[in-house]
Amino acid sequence: MEDLKNRILNCTACPLSKTRQHAVWGEGNPKAEILIIAEAPGADEDRTGRPFVGKSGQLLDKILAACGFTRQKHVFLSNILRCRPPGNRTPLDEEVKACIHFLHEQIELVDPKIIILLGATPLKRVLNDDRLRITKIRGQWISWNGRLVMPVYHPAALLRNPALKYPTWDDFKNVVYKYRELVDPEHYSEHV
Ligand code: URA
Ligand code: URA
Repeated sequence: MEDLKNRILNCTACPLSKTRQHAVWGEGNPKAEILIIAEAPGADEDRTGRPFVGKSGQLLDKILAACGFTRQKHVFLSNILRCRPPGNRTPLDEEVKACIHFLHEQIELVDPKIIILLGATPLKRVLNDDRLRITKIRGQWISWNGRLVMPVYHPAALLRNPALKYPTWDDFKNVVYKYRELVDPEHYSEHV
């Protein structure tokens, strides 16, 4: 992981490397059984070099806490892109092509049983199918390369539309049930 981290931090494979302040390589337990994949760093992440430190990140941490999960122990956080697209626009095909090999390597290193995809971009890019719609298939377990994938709404979508919190909480409850089934039957969560 240290080697992968260094290659990400020094990457110049696409033009986003010229506008970044920091590349964001990931955070959490490198042996976590849950890998969370989002889209790309935003302004706060670009400034700090850490994933999910802005408003979306604070909401994500609250959801994880309600599940009894912490960044330190239960999850590893990653993104499709490692550098911020200007204005947080959606990643371009060329950018994804230049970057996603880092994610595939990271998935093998972490070797999680469960992968959570946050929003439309990781859904399409990880499963490599542009037709997939987050509104249609969120909440459904998908078997992928021997792992279980759960697509959910991105926390930024919940901030824009608070009604999405209800289905999202159902989806995270399902992750807790699956974690108890596959990893730790004793896993404690105050709310699930
Ligand atoms: N939004 C993302 O998609 N990724 C981050 O790391 C932070 C916010
Ligand atoms: N649209 C998105 O891009 N992401 C979501 O999570 C929901 C709707």
